[in-house]
Amino acid sequence: MILVTGGAGFIGSNFVLDWLAGGGEPVVNLDKLTYAGNLENLAPLSGDPRHVFVRGDIGDRELVAGLLTNHRIRAIVHFAAESHVDRSIHGPEDFIETNIVGTFRLLEAARAYWSALPAAERDAFRFLHVSTDEVYGSLAPDDPPFAETNQYQPNSPYSASKAASDHLVRGYHHTYGLPVVTTNCSNNYGPLQFPEKLIPLVIANALAGKPLPIYGDGRQIRDWLYVGDHCSAIRRALAAGRLGEVYNIGGASEQANIDVVHTLCRILDEERPRADGKPYTEQITYVKDRPGHDRRYAIDARKITGELGWTPAETFETGIRRTVRWYLDHQPWVANVTSGAYRDWIAKHYAG
Ligand code: NAD
Ligand code: TYD
Repeated sequence: MILVTGGAGFIGSNFVLDWLAGGGEPVVNLDKLTYAGNLENLAPLSGDPRHVFVRGDIGDRELVAGLLTNHRIRAIVHFAAESHVDRSIHGPEDFIETNIVGTFRLLEAARAYWSALPAAERDAFRFLHVSTDEVYGSLAPDDPPFAETNQYQPNSPYSASKAASDHLVRGYHHTYGLPVVTTNCSNNYGPLQFPEKLIPLVIANALAGKPLPIYGDGRQIRDWLYVGDHCSAIRRALAAGRLGEVYNIGGASEQANIDVVHTLCRILDEERPRADGKPYTEQITYVKDRPGHDRRYAIDARKITGELGWTPAETFETGIRRTVRWYLDHQPWVANVTSGAYRDWIAKHYAG
């Protein structure tokens, strides 16, 4: 079996669903079910014996040790994290606790388990650490995209905590020989993303007739990676990634935020026109910029393409249309996850 952490979140649940649909080994899914974790994401697996869900914390040493031993885990795919930059600005502590201390404890449990395995299982064991391009900092307009050799220059509590976790993973490989592979990917989008992040937030607000908040001048650039493409890249890295190596994963889709929002408005105008016939762009509202807002991220994915033969299947245009359609078809999912706690966050963060 494999152990997936954070498998009730956005990327983790997409990964578990894809993995099992593709005939992968059974999954033990360890997730704390924070505000971002949602068992409804895994509803298609209800009653499926290949999926064992465990509610718990990656920092719970005894629990993790028991899961590794009892299920004879042959690989860990580590998604669990606090993942939202804006939340890390309002309250960094949970980010330190889960992303740094939690990853440290998970590594300790993995090391103890892996060290005691018979030789053949030791050789086959993998720890795949899922990280972000945000650890590399911010690019100027003409800078080349992030390569795996770029210096780490994290600028937010979130990216600093992910950078720390990447360093720990690296250290466990070089010091103890733990067979790790790290992936650093760009901004994911697609089905099942919690509507606090730009794309699902804009879709939800557009349909609800609410403002579409653009931070600062809206000219910040992100590279957008369709979540299904991210899952296929992780599968490749797990199967064939070289031990101790880092692979950058990107969607080859650099876009300014304001252009992303215009694209969403155009697709919504086509697929679900406003009752008054006006364009959704009328709801665009410029708001105060995020403190320390990184200007540009871009990914050089030549290493994973060259070594592992991975390329993204979706363009931004195809992926974003699929995503909008998924949200239009899953309005009850959106209604269920935008609970009281979600409304409190929106009121606090977008106040004024
Ligand atoms: P998410 O916030 O949607 O999901 C995180 C999941 O982890 C949730 O289900 C949550 O309940 C769980 N979790 C949190 N703390 C936990 C703990 N202490 N123990 C066990 N479970 C815990 O995040 P996501 O967008 O799916 O991101 C997954 C991973 O990918 C993260 O490591 C993130 O840093 C990385 N990443 C995400 C993006 C992106 O665009 N979403 C981009 C680059 C990297
Ligand atoms: P986000 O989805 O939070 O991802 P990240 O900060 O990890 O890149 O934000 C994507 C971009 O969109 C980022 O530049 C911030 C911006 N943004 C807005 O302009 N308005 C919003 O309401 C949100 C949530 C994000």
